[in-house]
Amino acid sequence: MSKNKNNKPVWSTRIKKNSSSLFAKVGSSINIDKRLYKQDIYASSVHVEMLFKKKIISLQVKNKIIWGLKKIFNEINKKKFTFNNQSEDIHMSIEKRLFDLIGEDAGFIHTARSRNDQVIVDFKLWMIDASNDIIKEIDITIKSIIKIAEKNIYTIMPSFTHLKNAQPISFAHYILAYVEMLNRDKKRFLYNKESLLQNPLGVAAIAGTSFDIDREFTTKKLKFKNPTRNSVDTVSDRDFVLDFLYSISVCSNHISRFAEEFILWNSDAFDLIKLKDKVVTGSSIMPQKKNPDTLEYLRGKTGHAYGNLFSMLTILKGLPLSYFKDLQDDKELAFKSFDQIKISLQIMREVLNNFIVNKKKMIQLAETGYTTATDLADYIVREHKYPFRKAYLVTSKIVNLAEQKGKKLSELTVPEIKSIDKNLNESALKLFNLENSVKSKKSYGGTSFENIKKMIKKYKKHV
Ligand code: ARG
Repeated sequence: MSKNKNNKPVWSTRIKKNSSSLFAKVGSSINIDKRLYKQDIYASSVHVEMLFKKKIISLQVKNKIIWGLKKIFNEINKKKFTFNNQSEDIHMSIEKRLFDLIGEDAGFIHTARSRNDQVIVDFKLWMIDASNDIIKEIDITIKSIIKIAEKNIYTIMPSFTHLKNAQPISFAHYILAYVEMLNRDKKRFLYNKESLLQNPLGVAAIAGTSFDIDREFTTKKLKFKNPTRNSVDTVSDRDFVLDFLYSISVCSNHISRFAEEFILWNSDAFDLIKLKDKVVTGSSIMPQKKNPDTLEYLRGKTGHAYGNLFSMLTILKGLPLSYFKDLQDDKELAFKSFDQIKISLQIMREVLNNFIVNKKKMIQLAETGYTTATDLADYIVREHKYPFRKAYLVTSKIVNLAEQKGKKLSELTVPEIKSIDKNLNESALKLFNLENSVKSKKSYGGTSFENIKKMIKKYKKHV
């Protein structure tokens, strides 16, 4: 609980007994929100500038407060500030220290504001920076992926649907799918800025204030876009926290899908990639093991991101307007999710920079499971003007024949394919070539080598 100069809480005249020590301990958020000290001091400085400009406080008081705030900022930076567990939160801790430093005049700082608007201003300012940080991490990750793609344009692998071999694709095309996902993640954080840029400062506790404040001034100085428009909504609103947690959850989901896929591919059964020693761990009993722990860590932590989002949704569910203590937990959830997504993106990059592509195995696997069957069906439509369904039927029969004979499609002979449809000739056999298959997928967004090269150029422009 925050205490004034006489070491009593500011509300001690009204609330005569000390809070239960148990509640004082759990109700304090200082250990979490001390992370907001920069934003708190910055926003408070702008607030007092505005109070002075509007002649609500004198120049002398303003200067004293600004001096005190700067001193506190330096103390915290130099780790000379004691975060007292007895101060309820960062806002009260800084105010308390200001009293120690400049005396009674510190009391002017809280004119025309409440912690209710103060806390959201700080939090939004923090979240704007945090979102920019995440965007940077995403960009570096995208660059790592592009590098891998550039080296693997001609690496052919099977694509999978239902985890069954589907059609041959370039490994570059596959890995670039993650660039698309990460680009969408980036966009989500960018969209969120629209609501983050609405300035809550000045709505005070819930009703606004009777002082003639200038919210446009603080908006401009704090680099927000507009002042918020309804004081009740402003102190109640935590949609921006949900947006942030959701955006992190989706990004985490993408990381988790990547992790799962790489775990599978690194398995002895698939053997499509090999993780280098830097990103595996051993077993305490089985000397031969190299386990993909890093990827499992990423997959596991995604659950935490969802959990944080779900906690916030649940906190808000059924909460009447406006501020309630329940909301205090919003920061812990956002900080945890932020720290986690940053480290997860970094670990994802470690993995991306430390694996070997088993090109031979990729080709071998792409050759099994009749992955070029669709190419033949498409060819029959084009060459023999069959309706697609008829071509599909002919091709199915050819696949059945290959299966019966225990052959790959590419091992079939002209008489064999003619036995299914007499119109077919040796040029049909060319369709079973994996490279031709990949090359032919020229439709926009398809896996052809030419498309991939163009896409890589495009992606490079945006990171
Ligand atoms: N530490 C509080 C929080 O983060 C600050 C808001 C306090 N407001 C109040 N009315 N008690 O939510």
